[in-house]
Amino acid sequence: MYSEKVMDHFQNPRNVGEIENASGVGTVGNAKCGDIMRMFLDIDENGVITEAKFKTFGCGAAVATSSMATELVKGRTIQEALQVTNRAVMEALDGLPPVKVHCSLLAEEAIHAALWDYAEKNHIRIEGLEKPKSDISEEADEEDY
Ligand code: FES
Repeated sequence: MYSEKVMDHFQNPRNVGEIENASGVGTVGNAKCGDIMRMFLDIDENGVITEAKFKTFGCGAAVATSSMATELVKGRTIQEALQVTNRAVMEALDGLPPVKVHCSLLAEEAIHAALWDYAEKNHIRIEGLEKPKSDISEEADEEDY
């Protein structure tokens, strides 16, 4: 049911934890399943994400996608991080079962929420970033996979 990569990132998640005084912190939940993800990003003066950590209180797919998402955004610029969509994360994990696709939306939204927090703290506007939702359950329902 799950790919080897999903199982690997679920059993050995990368970048679990918190960053003290992170440049940006984003928390996103899904009211339907009750799962919550918090993403911490450190961003240097050149707009490069130097560190990414996460805490996920959720299902295995949510843990695996947040682990992969942190791996994908580390070392990337803010604009590159915006390309790390839930589909990109799923592809990097060799796919997810259809009923678990919504879990990967948490990772995408948590990245956006952390970037939004960073932008607000620094009084800047990030091109292409819209205000993230704190609860993705409605969006997950509407998405057509
Ligand atoms: Fe809630 Fe996976 S079941 S995020």
